[in-house]
Amino acid sequence: MPPLLLPLLLLAVSAASVLAESTVHLREQFEDGDAWTSRWAESKHKTDYGKFVLSAGKFYGDAEKDKGLQTSQDARFYALSTRFDDFSNQGQPLVIQFTVKHEQSIDCGGGYIKLFPSDLNQEDMHGDSTYNIMFGPDICGPGTKKVHVIFNYKGKNHLINKDIRCKDDEYTHLYTLIVNPDNTYEVKIDNKKVESGNLEDDWDFLPPKKIKDPEAKKAEDWDDRERISDPDDKKPEDWDKPENIPDPDAKKPDDWDDEMDGEWEPPMVTNPDYKGEWKPREIDNPAYKGKWVHPEIDNPEYTADPEIYKYGSIGVIGLDLWQVKSGTIFDNFLITNDPNLAEEIGNDTWGKTKDAEKKMKEGQEEEERKIREEDSMKRREEAKDEGEDEEGEEAKDEEGEEEEEEGDEQEEEEEEEEEDDEGTDSKLKDEL
Ligand SMILES: *[C@@H]1O[C@H](CO)[C@@H](O)[C@H](O)[C@H]1NC(C)=O
Repeated sequence: MPPLLLPLLLLAVSAASVLAESTVHLREQFEDGDAWTSRWAESKHKTDYGKFVLSAGKFYGDAEKDKGLQTSQDARFYALSTRFDDFSNQGQPLVIQFTVKHEQSIDCGGGYIKLFPSDLNQEDMHGDSTYNIMFGPDICGPGTKKVHVIFNYKGKNHLINKDIRCKDDEYTHLYTLIVNPDNTYEVKIDNKKVESGNLEDDWDFLPPKKIKDPEAKKAEDWDDRERISDPDDKKPEDWDKPENIPDPDAKKPDDWDDEMDGEWEPPMVTNPDYKGEWKPREIDNPAYKGKWVHPEIDNPEYTADPEIYKYGSIGVIGLDLWQVKSGTIFDNFLITNDPNLAEEIGNDTWGKTKDAEKKMKEGQEEEERKIREEDSMKRREEAKDEGEDEEGEEAKDEEGEEEEEEGDEQEEEEEEEEEDDEGTDSKLKDEL
């Protein structure tokens, strides 16, 4: 074979195998009107779940493409899910990706998905339904702003040991979880890595590899005193002196009358020769053996599991959450085995509309600011027309307006505080 052909061939083969391996298990963009209602099923476990509606929200980058599922009722539980062909992630990367937009400026509520085995009864999905993975942002008050990555391992839910902060602004953000068959993982927000590592290190799936040897004991004569008192140091003979002595300079006053005043005694003063308590000096301990370290042994309870990442059945993705203030939009759901494809799709969806979305919101804010300004100008003009003493009236009005504005701000702050108080909790606590 000519020397040039081999690398070319290898390149072709590897490119082909990458392409061949790409599988998309679910892609949901909500771009076909009401048709989503036939793909997504609402749970009937409770009778008063909040309604999801199809909406691009108050501001967006693309009126059609940015349509997603929006929570529409305050202080409700939501429970909606969709099914796809059952698969196992054995020997393959698993990529879960979706966008979340808290355009209502969320106070307390979940923004996460749950990935279920395909034996889930969608009509009965609820907080205690067994899931494989829970992933995504969760906000409740100023204290909770995190990305959950919870794995069910052998029937128990395990939270990640690391703290991953989620986005808490009002824009659309892309959340991606990649779980690899070598038991590594990566979490991305807006196509940028925010956390990664090893499943075994960052969750407590397995007992520790090493434990302190229960048989090992510190020897009785183990001397771990680094410094000791010098046994040869002796207290000097003339050390002990009284702390206070009669003032040697004091003189009995001339007019002292022993009969009237009693026997004269000089006042006591601090003894300049007093040296305090004697202590022997410290020296290095010649018998020092160093600090004793408890030897470790392999933990007999520990068994390595090369397949922590693996789920035998994955078949449903659901939104099972609680929201105090509704308005969150979920979109661009993707489940695949190809991290690169997910990144590309992320670029193609969220990446394409995010700037226009921001611009539209900023435009709206600018518009609102102008209207407020015009309003207050109009009021000022009216006051001017009505007023008899124009100058006085104007001055007063301007003052009043400033106060009003301050008042508004205060009100807003108070409202925020109230909401924080209300923020019971996202219901996750009960589940764990
Ligand atoms: C996605 O976009 C980023 C930023 O433009 C770029 O660096 C990256 O290569 C893109 N990824 C893919 C898979 O196209």
